[in-house]
Amino acid sequence: MRLTVLGGGGFRLPLVFRALLDDRGEAAGRCTELVLYDTERRRLDAIGAVLAQQAAGRADAPAVRLTTDLDEALRGADFVFSAIRVGGLAGRARDERVPLAEGVLGQETVGAGGVLYGLRTLPVAVRIAERIAAVAPDAWVINFTNPAGMVTEAMQRVLGDRVIGICDSPVGLCRRAARAIGADPDQASYDYVGLNHLGWLRRVTVDGQDRLPELLADEMALGSFEEGKLFGTDWLRALGALPNEYLHYYYFNREAVAAIRDSPQTRGEFLREQQTAFYESAATRPATALQAWERTRLEREETYMAESREATGGWQRDSCDLDGGGYDRVALALMRAIARDERTTLILNVRNRTVVPGLDADAVVEVPCTVDANGAHPLAVGAVAAGQLGLMLSLKEVERSTIEAAASGSHQAALRAIALHPLVDSVNVARRILEASETPG
Ligand code: G6P
Ligand code: MN
Repeated sequence: MRLTVLGGGGFRLPLVFRALLDDRGEAAGRCTELVLYDTERRRLDAIGAVLAQQAAGRADAPAVRLTTDLDEALRGADFVFSAIRVGGLAGRARDERVPLAEGVLGQETVGAGGVLYGLRTLPVAVRIAERIAAVAPDAWVINFTNPAGMVTEAMQRVLGDRVIGICDSPVGLCRRAARAIGADPDQASYDYVGLNHLGWLRRVTVDGQDRLPELLADEMALGSFEEGKLFGTDWLRALGALPNEYLHYYYFNREAVAAIRDSPQTRGEFLREQQTAFYESAATRPATALQAWERTRLEREETYMAESREATGGWQRDSCDLDGGGYDRVALALMRAIARDERTTLILNVRNRTVVPGLDADAVVEVPCTVDANGAHPLAVGAVAAGQLGLMLSLKEVERSTIEAAASGSHQAALRAIALHPLVDSVNVARRILEASETPG
């Protein structure tokens, strides 16, 4: 089986490779060939050096091929993972700085920054979808490329339900909640609903019983894990659900903006420095590329959402959240379920159909799905609270205006996308953000 990764020179690729190496399942449906595509040869070579060390002594390791030719990468692929970052980390830093200069949130995927990132990414993602349709029409496409909700929806318009979006944040939340209850995360089922980076865990069912009310009532247990600390136990009880960590930017917007503005570097600026150092060291000292990668990865995980944690008392992440087992686990579980027809349940970004009443059939939503050889089938989630549905509708309108702007080049649609975002507080602010983002430099 051949897996092609677009953005194969990306820093998180060794996590995927580690998961492939650890896949001890039956031979059928195991990845035997890994093709890494990237626009930059230098990045491919650096990641290639890490992978070579990971594979040392492993006779059954997948064969790895590196290429900068998109069509060549796609041809013959059974699965395509898309994990690209258009504009690199320099682009991310700009997406953060431009809105921050206007006093509103500057973040990779949330707020005006997410719209700017979408405007830059969507044309590239759609072109990739078109090449997949032409060159590998039978491949399954797993999209991690952010902003994952809108990118998945735009790619679906070309490829239909063969493209499935993934994110590690819902599964992280679910597992933390189950552990706080004292349950085995793999034995619980989760009622989660939302859009990507905008969702809520509403029930945690163990042995047929919803245990979330018990968790909400238990001050100690509720305050013991990331979301309890981030949102505060009283707010979680008032809400009656556990929000995705990204909702911190909405519910505590003022504090989040202040914390990001007051830190010397944005996340994008920090990562840009950190990653530049890693890629340089891997190029000049390939023999120690794996150690350099491990060190860099741990530092990246330890500093994840540092400003939000700083704004809520300066606590550290749990060690179980540092192992990076989120993103690669979801991707591999999805690929395995499809390839081996091993029915499993995962929270994925798929077309709504009739699952969330109030959203139209083609809206991509993030909900639990059963997965088998025929793809992902969303499970009915039932009525959504008005406040949650309202936010989902607002954000879906932002996503669709962004898709329209990227497809047509319409300035009006781009302005609408930014101005209608609930975290942008004036149309004039949106105008200036758009103008600044179009200014070179
Ligand atoms: C989580 C999100 C991803 C996001 C990443 C940012 O994993 O689910 O969508 O890209 O965090 O992490 P970073 O280390 O790049 O700030
Ligand atoms: Mn994500």
